[in-house]
Amino acid sequence: MKTLLLTAGDTDTAARLLREGSLVGIPTETVYGLGADGTNGQAVEKIFKAKGRPQDNPLILHIPDAGWLERCCRDIPAEAGILAERFWPGPLTMILKRREEIPDAVTAGLDTVGVRCPAHPVCREIIRAADVPVAAPSGNLSGRPSPTTAAHMMRDMDGRIDAVVDGGPCQVGVESSIVDLTCSPPVLLRPGGIPLESLRAVLGEVLVDPAVEGQADPGAAPRAPGMKYRHYAPRAPLTLVCGRGEDTAAYIAAHAPEKCGVLCFREFADCFPGRQVVSLGGENEPEEQARRLFDALRAFDDTDVGEIWAQSPQEQGVGRAVVNRLNRASGFHVIRV
Ligand code: TXA
Ligand code: MG
Repeated sequence: MKTLLLTAGDTDTAARLLREGSLVGIPTETVYGLGADGTNGQAVEKIFKAKGRPQDNPLILHIPDAGWLERCCRDIPAEAGILAERFWPGPLTMILKRREEIPDAVTAGLDTVGVRCPAHPVCREIIRAADVPVAAPSGNLSGRPSPTTAAHMMRDMDGRIDAVVDGGPCQVGVESSIVDLTCSPPVLLRPGGIPLESLRAVLGEVLVDPAVEGQADPGAAPRAPGMKYRHYAPRAPLTLVCGRGEDTAAYIAAHAPEKCGVLCFREFADCFPGRQVVSLGGENEPEEQARRLFDALRAFDDTDVGEIWAQSPQEQGVGRAVVNRLNRASGFHVIRV
């Protein structure tokens, strides 16, 4: 299959392809998505094949405004309206009761569905023109770092999907926060672009699913099925070092072998002579870290490093999402100093 690279002006072509049941890479403000018509079970099934994604991992439906919620969901609680008003369009996914018409391929057979209204205007224009909710996981091959540019998407999906729309680099850089509104109090299933602190400021109490903080118990079924897989991983094994910036830098400088890769804060970039250094951004700039994270992880794949060591950011604001992705990229190989 030849994968067309479309521009942000080609929204009509992208919408037509979606309506025909094709797979299209779409830009969002978080990461690029691998989109299909979310009302067409056969089209949605092709997503799992293209990504190599396990069938039990449900997809998020993307809509252009909160008015479409009723096309996807039923028994919508008041909190959904409040969150939509405050955070949409933006990096927040709500888990709600699904409508019967939503294909099982989208929800992996669950009676709930994740719904999000992305902030990228090109994305919303494509969905509106297609006039169907668009099911889309992140556009990486399963297990790999998520794509934050059209080039990343082409790297993983060239020859596997019909088209990619180039909407420029993603402005947020980590996936949406996922909050389950089918229970009370609401539960955060995945930290992401909207900080937990902001959700609590609006909703009051928000619990954090145990699978967010640690490795999911392999025997238990996590509430966001995607949380049980190793994820976001570069090719070389990654060791994550947690602590204060100067301590983690000193630890890595002392312990990381020659010629390995180091993912560090910009302030410490000169501390690792002889290593392949990639900057995650400023130590106290979580938004910048989020924006750079996946591109930085992918950058090591273009080198011959046999292992990667990374400084862990602080778990505040969007930093919580960055740490969550690094934990998973390391397969929970974490050292505290
Ligand atoms: O920012 C994002 O959310 C990106 C862009 C493309 O919108 N999408 C994304 O999708 O990250 P994906 O498929 O890579 O991650 C979706 C996560 C998975 O962990 C999945 O298990 C969880 O959402 N999920 C989806 N539907 C769910 C449901 N009904 N209940 C619980 N978890 C759900
Ligand atoms: Mg993903």
